[in-house]
Amino acid sequence: MTDLDALSAKLHPLEREVLPKISANTSFDDIVRATGLKDVEVMRALQWLQNKGVIELSQEIKEVINLDSNGKKYTREGLPERKFLEAVRDKPLALEELGGSGLSRDEINICIGLLKSKAAIDIKKDAGLIISINPNGKRLLEGGFLEESFLRAGFPRDASSLGPEEKFAFEALKKRKNIVREDVIKLRSARLTPIGEALQKTALKTDVVDSITPAMLKSGSWKGKDFRSYDIRINVPRISGGRRHFVREVTEYVKKIWLELGFKEMTGPMVQTSFWNFDALFTAQDHPTRDLQDTFYVRNPAKGKLPAASLVSNVQKTHENGWTTGSKGWEYSWNPELAKENVMRTHTTVLSAQTIAKLKESGLPAKYFAVGKCFRNETLDWSHLFEFNQVEGIVVDPDANFKHLVGYLKEFFKKMGYKVRIRPAYFPYTEPSAEVDIYDPRHRRWIELAGSGMFRPELVKPLLGKAVPVLAWGLGLSRLVPMYYGMDDIRELYKNDLRQLREIKSWMR
Ligand code: PHE
Repeated sequence: MTDLDALSAKLHPLEREVLPKISANTSFDDIVRATGLKDVEVMRALQWLQNKGVIELSQEIKEVINLDSNGKKYTREGLPERKFLEAVRDKPLALEELGGSGLSRDEINICIGLLKSKAAIDIKKDAGLIISINPNGKRLLEGGFLEESFLRAGFPRDASSLGPEEKFAFEALKKRKNIVREDVIKLRSARLTPIGEALQKTALKTDVVDSITPAMLKSGSWKGKDFRSYDIRINVPRISGGRRHFVREVTEYVKKIWLELGFKEMTGPMVQTSFWNFDALFTAQDHPTRDLQDTFYVRNPAKGKLPAASLVSNVQKTHENGWTTGSKGWEYSWNPELAKENVMRTHTTVLSAQTIAKLKESGLPAKYFAVGKCFRNETLDWSHLFEFNQVEGIVVDPDANFKHLVGYLKEFFKKMGYKVRIRPAYFPYTEPSAEVDIYDPRHRRWIELAGSGMFRPELVKPLLGKAVPVLAWGLGLSRLVPMYYGMDDIRELYKNDLRQLREIKSWMR
């Protein structure tokens, strides 16, 4: 096969129809007319032909003159100034009498100004204004106005092709209302390249098969047919199919990791009582994180319900004097009203407390995880959002120890693709406590990502009835995700820029 044959085999049926109609320089409209195809079909075929190097497309911006509404009317009925002159041709008329000429008041006023400037009428002041035609006006009536011949010349007209008289008439008409109008249009045209010229001379096959059908397979009629070959390198429009938000992709992946490790999912509302968000987690009622500066309180309903009285009483006693947990507690008087205050949950650890309260000793060991939105009263900037996704986990197991906790965290972050560093920390509800950092290779620094530890008896015993070891952690996804995508501003997570959402790479590990 020669190159031309190969090229010819690739042509789409639309290209086959369009190509023979193109010569040295053929306008888009001419091709549409010659082929009888739709505009879009011709446009598509031309673009494909251009991609194949068969033609070159060019575009010219042109100003054209068209008739506007009054222009069409005057072309049909004659210009008002002609009607005006005809009305006064035989005898002078008073201004009031001109109403009978079929002209509007506006038109009469315009005609007076216009015909005076052309020195075609004389105006005498008598009782009113008396208007008469003069010899110059009579000549105009017979010879015709420049504007009239301009209107009769046919439209649209190329603005750059006007002669001096036409230009004069056009400028005069442009000043009047809705007679002529200038439009800017794009003129597209196609020209054959040398390859195109050669291709046009070869006999283009028209009986090329585009797609094979079951019927053709059945009857065997496909045999000996010519098939159109597909050009897999051609430019095609990008299709953006539906996909999950990239933050969602990461959370789905995180869920999968915990499910595969045998964890069950915990879920719950984002609005929680302070009891579950703080008190059940042995966070004293005067602890700074409960401050308005750190936590969003809900105005309506401002308060929620406390759980069973015995549970509340266990928590109260633990806060006040340590109850039977072996601790002295926080040594203050615990206020149930503060515990009722509704907050936007500040961590998913609230779900761990609720889950432990529902567990029975016989159901152990038990492993749970959660991924969910949490809220903190932060000022929004490049590294802070007031909402973030937290990944939570607990392992409630009489045989669990701190080494297991480190093992779970390392395993999780390995699956996420990060190296971790674990260092001592403090939380009101864990002992020992540890913080987890992951390494950010792009900025060569460690980033604090997670809090963890073993829940204190002051938390576990009031909820479960017995101080069983509980491994616990809570880590923020909102730092990890921007790191993965190389974002320097955390706000980009929720920019909802469609282009970003379409083009961002998928989370893959
Ligand atoms: N709740 C802590 C936070 O939000 C994380 C944490 C969870 C710490 C469990 C210890 C145990 O930062």
